[in-house]
Amino acid sequence: MSLEGQVALITGATSGIGLACAEALSAQGVKLVLSGRRGELLEEHCRRLPNSVASPGDIADPQTPTALIATALEAHGRLDIVINNAGLIHNGSIDEIDVERVCAMVRVNVEAAFRLIYLACKHFQDVGRGHLINTSSVLGTKVREQAGAYAGTKHAIEALAEALRLELAGSEIKITCIEPGLVVTDLHRDYPVRPEVMQDIAHPLAPADVADVVLFALRQPAHVALPRLMVLPQDQKI
Ligand SMILES: NC(=O)c1ccc[n+]([C@@H]2O[C@H](COP(=O)([O-])OP(=O)(O)OC[C@H]3O[C@@H](n4cnc5c(N)ncnc54)[C@H](OP(=O)(O)O)[C@@H]3O)[C@@H](O)[C@H]2O)c1
Repeated sequence: MSLEGQVALITGATSGIGLACAEALSAQGVKLVLSGRRGELLEEHCRRLPNSVASPGDIADPQTPTALIATALEAHGRLDIVINNAGLIHNGSIDEIDVERVCAMVRVNVEAAFRLIYLACKHFQDVGRGHLINTSSVLGTKVREQAGAYAGTKHAIEALAEALRLELAGSEIKITCIEPGLVVTDLHRDYPVRPEVMQDIAHPLAPADVADVVLFALRQPAHVALPRLMVLPQDQKI
């Protein structure tokens, strides 16, 4: 299935998986709206990627998801794909966890994501078709000791996505949760991967590996749904 001429909104597109998705989709002729807080970086990406528009801002601001969809329609006249990808991680033991940082993570990973998911589904219903991709996590279906807060945010995305998939079955609106294992990105800048997890993984995923899976999901024929796709480093034991 060709994606040429379609329009995608990607949140968390300044770095990591979101940026890799932007590059992969751009190579297929998809027009883009890129979101993230680091406006200068977004502008830099847009100078490189044809037909792309930067829309900087904090996704946790309740107005941002609405503004992003409006930007896509104003700039490109349509919106076919939404990649709900912005996210952060904060975990820790009962002793060390910072509950304020947990709540900040919930505002981005759950509250902002839910706003965007519902707005995207409403838009797709209005136009009769569309594909929502959520960057969930392997921790969207599993849990690990001391990682329950982050896993909880991703389980929430999976639950909403599954319920919406049931509601939308029979329509031309698709929802896919991508569930990556360890990917080398800035996500772990403030929350380094624990040494005991890292020592088993000689070859973590690159953001481009995840973008390949996103492209695979987007290119399926109309009758094929891929509700969830887990993608792990071959040596990750989880
Ligand atoms: N790396 C992994 O191992 C892994 C595994 C499974 C799932 N994931 C998921 O993959 C997604 C992307 O993460 P990544 O690994 O690619 O890390 P990343 O490079 O740190 O990307 C995170 C993105 O989210 C954006 N973001 C964070 N808070 C934001 C806010 N308040 N407002 C707007 N944008 C915000 C960041 O942009 P700004 O900083 O410019 O705002 C950045 O573009 C996340 O949902 C993460 O949970 C990652």
